[in-house]
Amino acid sequence: MTSQRKIGLFDSGFGGLSVMREVRRLLPAEDLVYFADSAHCPYGAKPVEVIRERAYAICDFLISQGVKLIVIASNTTSAAALEAVREKYNMPVIGVEPAVKPAAAVTVNGKIGVIATGVTLVGERFNSLVKRYGTGLQIYAQPCPGLVEIVESGRWDNEETEGLISGYLDKLLAKGVDTIILGCTHYPFLRPLIEKLVGKDIKVIDSGEGVARQVARVLGNGFPEGNIRLAGSESFFTSGNPKFVEPVLALLWGKQGLQVTKKEI
Ligand code: DGL
Repeated sequence: MTSQRKIGLFDSGFGGLSVMREVRRLLPAEDLVYFADSAHCPYGAKPVEVIRERAYAICDFLISQGVKLIVIASNTTSAAALEAVREKYNMPVIGVEPAVKPAAAVTVNGKIGVIATGVTLVGERFNSLVKRYGTGLQIYAQPCPGLVEIVESGRWDNEETEGLISGYLDKLLAKGVDTIILGCTHYPFLRPLIEKLVGKDIKVIDSGEGVARQVARVLGNGFPEGNIRLAGSESFFTSGNPKFVEPVLALLWGKQGLQVTKKEI
């Protein structure tokens, strides 16, 4: 049976909702609490120490909300702080990393592109993923400054965005990749545009479903139909201005009228 305690998730902004929607799909009865660190977004070019301090502050807040498990729904924060957070808190903490292993399983020509933030791509976690699963493969890392901000603005249906993303993707296509990893939790919201730009022969992979499966495994709760409560709740917090972020949340979560509570931490 589902415990009444919540699952906490966070990211620099609302990108982590791409992970939360997979958690919701797999575990419909769980109560979910999401923190968007909108006042400090983006994290992608910040020093690792700063990101780690933000992670501690947010985890303290989530724990005060009664969470039983924390998902760091951010590749960048996981790269900067996953081990430190696990060491500090006495609870399960699940991170997100670029889906190199699944990509290695589906690539045919052995050439894989990874788009992510700079912090993720220079981090030791990514390096060790490539060492573990990338033997015999060519993996091309492409940082994508600006994309997180575009998702947070809620406006990507325009030529400037298409131009910026094409510039990044073209570099990978020029290498001949047949698989592209979305190594930032904001990017799945750009998936339709990315798929349109790369064409149907390129596989596009993200980490959301794998993370949700890991959450279910850790909770020993992979069979939602066994739960008595039918629908879990969702609550949303931000360090930013709710007036500005509520429309973006509505767009990304696909539901109008959601309330976001301001929490300065
Ligand atoms: N969604 C975060 C990630 O997965 C983006 C971090 C940021 O640059 O703010 O890396």
